[in-house]
Amino acid sequence: VCGIVGYVGHRQALDVVLDGLRRLEYRGYDSAGVAMLDGSGGLAVERAAGALSNLEGKLAGQDGSRFTATSGMGHTRWATHGAPTDRNAHPHRDAAGKVAVVHNGIIENFAALRAELETAGVEMASETDTETAAHLVAAAYASGPTAGELTASVCAVARRLEGAFTLLVTHADEPDKIVAARRSSPLVVGVGDGENFLASDVAAFIEHTRDAVELGQDQVVTIDRGGYRVTDFDGAEVQAKPFTVDWDLSAAEKGGHDYFMLKEIEEQPEALENTLRGHFVNGGIVLDEQRMTEQDLRDIDKVFVVACGTAYHSGLLAKYAIEHWCRIPVEVELASEFRYRDPVLGRDTLVVAISQSGETADTLEAVRHARTQRARVLAICNTNGAQIPRESDAVLYTHAGPEIGVAATKTFLAQITANYLVGLALAQARGTKYSDEVAREFEELAAMPQAVRQTLSTVEQVRTLGRELADSKAVLFLGRHVGYPVALEGALKLKELAYMHAEGFAAGELKHGPIALIEDRLPVVVVMPSAKGRALLHSKMLSNIREIQARGARTVVIAEEGDEAVRPFADELIEIPAVATLLQPLVSTVPLQVLAAEIARARGYDVDKPRNLAKSVTVE
Ligand code: F6R
Repeated sequence: VCGIVGYVGHRQALDVVLDGLRRLEYRGYDSAGVAMLDGSGGLAVERAAGALSNLEGKLAGQDGSRFTATSGMGHTRWATHGAPTDRNAHPHRDAAGKVAVVHNGIIENFAALRAELETAGVEMASETDTETAAHLVAAAYASGPTAGELTASVCAVARRLEGAFTLLVTHADEPDKIVAARRSSPLVVGVGDGENFLASDVAAFIEHTRDAVELGQDQVVTIDRGGYRVTDFDGAEVQAKPFTVDWDLSAAEKGGHDYFMLKEIEEQPEALENTLRGHFVNGGIVLDEQRMTEQDLRDIDKVFVVACGTAYHSGLLAKYAIEHWCRIPVEVELASEFRYRDPVLGRDTLVVAISQSGETADTLEAVRHARTQRARVLAICNTNGAQIPRESDAVLYTHAGPEIGVAATKTFLAQITANYLVGLALAQARGTKYSDEVAREFEELAAMPQAVRQTLSTVEQVRTLGRELADSKAVLFLGRHVGYPVALEGALKLKELAYMHAEGFAAGELKHGPIALIEDRLPVVVVMPSAKGRALLHSKMLSNIREIQARGARTVVIAEEGDEAVRPFADELIEIPAVATLLQPLVSTVPLQVLAAEIARARGYDVDKPRNLAKSVTVE
């Protein structure tokens, strides 16, 4: 939640910062703001509620000479403390207007800090937790052991803050320098030639440099034109880890599509190829990072999968694969519920944490809880070096590339693929599958990018259908077996993008209640099991379709090519390639993504930025 950019260099900082914010807007669009040195010993700050374009409109009407600085910072907000107003927009300043702060995260002890400041006579200009940091830095800089030292002042303040935060701080008396502090919220340094960057995500500076530096927990970094310096909160120098970003600007641009989401749906075959690449070596599955032994893997007798939202739906699919292949019980749990109910965990429990961003607070806290109970944690993540993989015992990265659309699409398919790789790695370690069986399963996975490509040929048909369904009051989704999580995902996509009532059900549950919802012309999307692979389920599903059709539903059926039995019951039939049962979600999800996007577009909504949402949710 919230996007942060800082720049010190030789270009006009305002342009660099606004470009960076544009690429980070997926992190929040409740308000935006910038702070630049104004050339006369002060800071020029501009802020506006709403999307970044509001801020740009405000800046366009201003005297440009206020914004010629070559260092500055910006913020795009997803509101936590305080309503999304101009007043609560970042950057926040101290009373003298010398210090500016932008912040991502939550300062949990802010009420006590605020009370302390108010007792000392400070008047607060906003309702945010962030503003307290600005006043505290100003005070630390004004007097005491850290007087006149911005980095030391930020360290001193960081030591007092509780919660999760990335703070960027600038002081008018130390121009051309930005100091940042990080705990449990993302921050990367971009290293350029005579210019340096700070950002929540490399997308903000990828246009200028692919050389980046990952920051650890409880670290402070100071950038200026010449370089960067990293310390801990006590000021002791620490070695940071450099890395090179392995994708370029085109991956973070729309490339001729109206929306990122549509581009990302089309990128799914490559996302799967990249996720599979390098994981089958010398006849076996390998993970990316493994800080646990083969014996540890063999000893596992219980698996929990924890995740949120779409990642949770991918986790539901992991259960089908891991139980089937490894014969270990698997429980799938919403990360936000996990630690509050005292789950039974021990050394032989494996917790698989799935998170595209690697920074979702609910999932991170579930990981931390699991580790305090001595369970092992394996992370599946799309963001190199994010907090969740850092705190895990093993990691498998999905290589879906940057996902800018707020609704997860290609990362979902990549997560399913990675889950299956984990299942195969476990089966191999535990000996529940022979190596030739593992090789065969991997081969089937490796054929999936082509199957997804083929499925993308249904896009136009689904779009037309989406426009027809745009005025519906609600849409129901039904699935069985692995089609059930797909139904849940289809409904989630429609809710979040089109703001339409949508529910996913296990088709067998229909008669236990939800069938009462069926009324004349209500669209019901049915994900058909394979006629060959799951003949019994297929015939049960046919009965379910008959039941709803008899009650007037308009049936939209996603079925394997050649499934003639279902044709008479489908008002609309969308055909997908026939693939192995466990792999069907990789193809059956695609039309549901397109359907949700098209219904949302037809209703006039911004598909990339659904209301009230942000891409990465760093609050519980
Ligand atoms: C829905 C969506 C969310 C995320 C969820 C978890 O389209 O994107 O439901 O899946 O917030 O996010 P990560 O995977 O970053 O932990």
